[in-house]
Amino acid sequence: MDTTFTTAIGSGARSHSQAPLSVSSVGYVTSVSGAQASVELNASFLNSCAKRKVTVGKFFGIVSGSSTIIGLITEIVEQAASSQNKDQGCSIARLELVGEIRADATGAAQFQRGISEYPSIGDSAAPLSDLQLGLVYSPSDAKTVHIGALQQDISVNVHINIEDLLTKHFALLGTTGVGKSSGVVIILQQILMVRPNLRIFLVDPHNEYSHCFGDKAQILTPRNLRLPFWLFNFEETVDAFFGGRPGIEEEVEILAEAIPVAKSMYAQYHSLADRNTVKKRDSKYTSFTGDTPVPYRIEDLIDVLDERMGKLENRALRSAYHKLIGRIRTFRNHPRYAFMFDNANLGGDTMADILAEIFRLLPNGRPMTIMQMAGFPAEIVDSVVSVLCRMAFDFGLWSDGIAPLLFVCEEAHRYAPANSKVGFGPTRRALSRIAKEGRKYGVFLGLVTQRPSEIDPAIISQCSTLFVMRMANDRDQALIRSAASDAAASLLTFVPSLGTREVFAFGSAVAIPTRLMFKELPVEHQPNSEAAGKSSSNWTIDKRHIEQVIERWRSSTMSHRVIVDEDPPVVPTASEPPLLAPASDHQRFKTLRKPLDSSGARFGSS
Ligand SMILES: Nc1ncnc2c1ncn2[C@@H]1O[C@H](COP(=O)(O)OP(=O)(O)OP(=O)(O)O)[C@@H](O)[C@H]1O
Ligand SMILES: [Mg+2]
Repeated sequence: MDTTFTTAIGSGARSHSQAPLSVSSVGYVTSVSGAQASVELNASFLNSCAKRKVTVGKFFGIVSGSSTIIGLITEIVEQAASSQNKDQGCSIARLELVGEIRADATGAAQFQRGISEYPSIGDSAAPLSDLQLGLVYSPSDAKTVHIGALQQDISVNVHINIEDLLTKHFALLGTTGVGKSSGVVIILQQILMVRPNLRIFLVDPHNEYSHCFGDKAQILTPRNLRLPFWLFNFEETVDAFFGGRPGIEEEVEILAEAIPVAKSMYAQYHSLADRNTVKKRDSKYTSFTGDTPVPYRIEDLIDVLDERMGKLENRALRSAYHKLIGRIRTFRNHPRYAFMFDNANLGGDTMADILAEIFRLLPNGRPMTIMQMAGFPAEIVDSVVSVLCRMAFDFGLWSDGIAPLLFVCEEAHRYAPANSKVGFGPTRRALSRIAKEGRKYGVFLGLVTQRPSEIDPAIISQCSTLFVMRMANDRDQALIRSAASDAAASLLTFVPSLGTREVFAFGSAVAIPTRLMFKELPVEHQPNSEAAGKSSSNWTIDKRHIEQVIERWRSSTMSHRVIVDEDPPVVPTASEPPLLAPASDHQRFKTLRKPLDSSGARFGSS
C-alpha cells in the first residue's frame, strides 16, 4: 500500500488554508489496542532515505475518517518472516496515540489531545508534515507562548499554554548546568509579556537572576528587604530566635505566653495616649496568638519577660527566662538581622505597605520581585522563605485571589525536602499549601530542582507540567516515570542523554509529550551567579581582595547564638530605640554583605 493521502480537514486549516496537509503514506495500521497501534512500514519506504524520519520519538499521522490521529513512535521492530508468509519479514512501528487533528466548528484544522475516533486496520500512516507539526505545537492562540523549537525539527516552534502552566503549577528538573535557570528565564520572560497583571515572586538562592528581567523586576536583598520580625508566625519566630535549631521547650513555652501579651500592649498604644498606662495583661486575656500578624515591640516583649522573671522564686525557671531574654537581645542587636529589626516599628502597622512592596501588589511597571537569598545568614534562610511563602498564600486566601501571584522557588528540595526530619516544617507546609490549594486563590507554584526525588512528593505531585532536563540519577528518573503517562514514559529513556538546553516536557501546558530545545537566551540575560561571572571576566585579584573575602566568609558563619551564662547580658539600653522610632543604626549595614570591588562591581546589587 503506497498512496498519497490528504487529511479531510486539510483544505480548511486556518492559517494554512491553501496548504494541503498531505503526505505520502508509508505504511498501514495492522493492529490497534487501547491507545496503542502498530503500523507496518512499506518495503519501498524502508529502502528510501526518508526512512530516517521514522524512529523512536517522532510522530506519525494516521488518517482515520475525518481526522488525523497523531501517534508517537515508541518502538520500531523488524519482524522475522513467518512460516505462512515466506516473503521477507517486515518492519513494524509501535505508536502511542496521543491526540488528533480535526476540524473545529469553523472548519479550521485544530489539534486536540485525546482520541475520539480510533484508527481501523488498514488505515494509512505517514510521518507528520511540518504543517501538521505546526498545528500541534504552534497554535496561533493568545493563551500560548513560544519557548523553544522541536528537537527533531528545529523549524517547528514549540508553544506552551500559559493558563494551564500557571494554574496547575509546574516544575523544572535536571542535573546541574543543563539549563534549568535559563529555562526559567525564558518561561518567566514570556509570562511577563502575555500576563502583565500576574505578579511573580522568584526565590533566587544564588543571586543569579538580577539582570535577567530588566526593569520588570525589583531586586530584594538583605540590605533593602524590610521584613519585620512581627510578621513571623510563632514557629518562624522560634526558629529565628533559636538560630534554626529546635527551641528549648521551657523557653518556647514562655515565649508562647509572652508574645501575645506584647502584641496586645502594642494594640493598646493606639487607643491610649500614655504608654505608661498600658497594662501588661496575661496572655489568657488577649485575643492575639503567637501567629497573629500584628505589630509588637521587641522591647515590650523583653519587658514582659523581665517583669515575669522578677516575680519568680523558682531558680530553674528564672534561669530559663534569663536565657531567653539574653537570646532575644543578642538576636535583636545582631547587625545581620537588621532587615527584621531596623525600622520594624516605624510607621506603626505597616503590613499593607510591606505586602504591597514585596508582592508588587501595586506593580508600577515592575510586576516581579527577585528575592536574593545568598546574603542572608544561613540559619535564618528557612524561616525567611517560610514567611514569604506563607504570606503569599495567605494574601491570596484572604483577598480571594485579587492579585494572582506566581511563586517560583529555585532549589526547591532545600525548602521542602522529602525527608520530614530535615528542613524546616513550616516552609514545607507553606509550599505544600500553595501546591494543594493555591490555585483556588490565584497563587501558583513553579519549582526548580536538581533532585526531584528529594522534594516532598506531596508537593511535586501537584505540578501538572514537568520540564525534565538531563538527569542521571535512577531515583530521580523513577520518580518522573511514575508521574508520566505511558507515551511520556517511553520518551523518558532519553533523559540521561539530553543535551544542554534540551528538555523533555509533558503535562497540562504542552500539547503532547515533547522533546524540545529551549530558545537560545542572549548572554546578557543568562542567569549567572555573580561570583561565577567574575571568574570568567578579566577580574584581577590582590591580597586586599582575599582579606575581604575572608572577612565576609567569617562574618557569614559567625553565629548570633551566644552562650548565655548566669550573669545578665550586657545590653546597651541607652541605645534602645524610643517608642515607634526608627532603630536606625546605619553602622549595621557596614557589616552586612559588602561589595568586594571598590570600582563599582559589587555582589548582591540592590
Ligand atoms: N537557553 C539557553 N540559552 C543559552 N545558553 C544556555 C541556555 N541554557 C543553558 N545555557 C548554557 O548553559 C549554562 C548553564 O545553564 P543554567 O545556569 O541555566 O543551568 P542550571 O541547570 O540552572 O544549572 P544549576 O543547576 O547549576 O543552577 C549557561 O551558563 C549557558 O551557558
Ligand atoms: Mg540554576
